[in-house]
Amino acid sequence: MKALAAFPGKRQINLIEHELPKISSPTQVKLRMVEAGVCGTDREISAFQYGTPPKGSDYLVIGHESLGEVVEVGSAVTRVKVGDLVVPMVRRPCPHDHCTACRSDRQDFCYTGDFKERGINGEHGFMTEFVVDDEKYMNPVPRELREVAVLVEPLTIAEKALAQVWQVQQRLPWSCAVAPGKDTPYRHRALVLGAGPVGLLGAMALVVSDFATYVYSRERAPNPKASLVESIGATYVSAETDSLEKLAERVGNIDLVYEATGASRLSFEVMRFLGTNGIFVFTGVPGRRGPIEIDTDLIMKNLVLKNQVVFGTVNAGCDAFEAAIRDLATFKQRWPEALRTVITGRFPMESYRDLLLGEAHGIKNVIMLAG
Ligand code: BGC
Repeated sequence: MKALAAFPGKRQINLIEHELPKISSPTQVKLRMVEAGVCGTDREISAFQYGTPPKGSDYLVIGHESLGEVVEVGSAVTRVKVGDLVVPMVRRPCPHDHCTACRSDRQDFCYTGDFKERGINGEHGFMTEFVVDDEKYMNPVPRELREVAVLVEPLTIAEKALAQVWQVQQRLPWSCAVAPGKDTPYRHRALVLGAGPVGLLGAMALVVSDFATYVYSRERAPNPKASLVESIGATYVSAETDSLEKLAERVGNIDLVYEATGASRLSFEVMRFLGTNGIFVFTGVPGRRGPIEIDTDLIMKNLVLKNQVVFGTVNAGCDAFEAAIRDLATFKQRWPEALRTVITGRFPMESYRDLLLGEAHGIKNVIMLAG
């Protein structure tokens, strides 16, 4: 079968012939891969900045944002059946007994760093025609979501972040009204940094959670991303036209920053404007540039005097996948057109060079596989 593979030794990306996988344990399922999304991580692996082939292989089959259809199940499989659409999880647990996270099926919080990630680190990924894996990594998706289900994995980033935000804010009466006694509740304000797929899907999740949501991105409006943002009831602010000071003034108390750019300089500049009781969530992985100067006194003073919380979040567990599938159904109902436009185009496997190595274009590009 065909597969898209990175060869770090030769520094090549090729469409290769890869061995067809077979079910080898009663709890495994076999998937015919329908499609896979191309993300920044795939492009970084293709530029050989990231990515590790499985032990003993000189290549890594890439792809981790995917949708598959179950075509065969092992004798002990109970969670899925042939014909089901599923989105597989990405991370696989480390082998260590003392890793309580991995031993509790929460490898997204792995302590040892010895986890594997399909299509990224130590295990082949999903940009291929068939995949075999344990049923416990499969998340069933309703058929009605077929057209957009490849967005589940990137949406899990926001879902995992939001689950943690709710937990953190249990520290205060987060849902209290601005004017007690009046029934106009205070709408918390979220600022999303970046209008790529992670930012836009995050903005949708924030609007659904009733945040007054602002998306800050480079390009000057009008542009297609700005229209998408406005069509979901959020506000697009361009860095070309609004300074951070102006943005902060416009938003008021910034209750939540959802960073989705991987740009550390911008992020730490924005941190200066995080509001009272605010939370700053990092989701991007910056490339290594040189050190920069930041106003650490101001940031530390604000963290303390404004009860702020800063956290980073990576990968996602089962609960975030379930939340993403639920939210995607809500997005589809509320904004069918906007959701469709997150997917810029679908391309055959043969277009891999342009998609992985060419200039980034559009929002989410998708590679059609055996489906
Ligand atoms: C993937 C995550 C993964 C992370 C780090 C992201 O692109 O969506 O599943 O944990 O990269 O490798």
